[in-house]
Amino acid sequence: MTSTSEKKFKKDYDAFLKPVEKSIGEHRLLESTVSKASLYALLAPGKRIRPVLLMAMAAQAPHKHNPAAAAVAVEMVHTFSLIHDDMPCIDNATLRRGQPCTHKAYGEAAGLLAGDLLLNEAYRVLSRNYPSALAGKLTHILSETTFGLLEGEWADIEAEEKEIDEVDIDFIYLNKTAKMISAPVKMGLTIAGYSEKKILPFALAAEDVGIAFQIIDDLLDINSSAAKLGKDVDQDERKKTYLKRHGEKWCRDKARELSLSAQKTFKQLPRPQFILSLINALMEREK
Ligand code: IPE
Ligand code: IPE
Ligand code: MG
Ligand code: MG
Repeated sequence: MTSTSEKKFKKDYDAFLKPVEKSIGEHRLLESTVSKASLYALLAPGKRIRPVLLMAMAAQAPHKHNPAAAAVAVEMVHTFSLIHDDMPCIDNATLRRGQPCTHKAYGEAAGLLAGDLLLNEAYRVLSRNYPSALAGKLTHILSETTFGLLEGEWADIEAEEKEIDEVDIDFIYLNKTAKMISAPVKMGLTIAGYSEKKILPFALAAEDVGIAFQIIDDLLDINSSAAKLGKDVDQDERKKTYLKRHGEKWCRDKARELSLSAQKTFKQLPRPQFILSLINALMEREK
């Protein structure tokens, strides 16, 4: 990116993020430890890629309903998945978003329930903020996605103990990560009034972006540091990854190929510039 287009990208990112951060900051729970643990995880400095994607997609057409609530709901489900993914029975991590994992800071019981709480909170936010027909559509997308995420997480765990085929790795990447990148694209375009049929090609392109995202994540796991990423590195020793099967060059080529193909599709949007730059930034990301 040239420095002018990079500046414009950062400015747009911040503009999409601002109402989301405001809404996250205003979200009130109880004074209980489990409520505090939920907010500890949610308010920590994540990159907020998924809510920003949702806002950018909603901006494709004039819309009546504020997309920020849906963006917060997506970030809540994502944060729930991180809390549980880090627990001793799954990845046994210690650091997340630059701070001790929720179960490390608050204990395992509060960590477990904080994840549950955020998952539920996402649907509470949707049902409170949108008329029932739209809330129903958004709930459908987010719950189908989360079903995939959970099956993907389980397949990822199970794969540690057995030999698996390439199609099983495809299943893991698509479900545990890529669908959660596609969900905000679908939800944002739904808020912008797009039909399911019109959304489909963009949803599939977003899955490619999501698979590339996980491939880059695996590269960072071996090539970066906990200080830079804000989370543990060398976590994938027992995991079945494309990186182990095909090596670094294949992964970099694959991430590029998936990103370029997604960009071709996203170019057809009325306001494509931001998402095209976002895909580039995700390909080159260092955290
Ligand atoms: C981490 O997601 C989990 C993966 C899918 C690899 P992010 O890298 O988006 O994490 P945050 O939200 O910035 O913490
Ligand atoms: C990413 O899982 C998908 C999730 C549901 C959290 P990973 O285990 O690969 O991601 P990190 O490295 O912990 O963020
Ligand atoms: Mg994991
Ligand atoms: Mg993990």
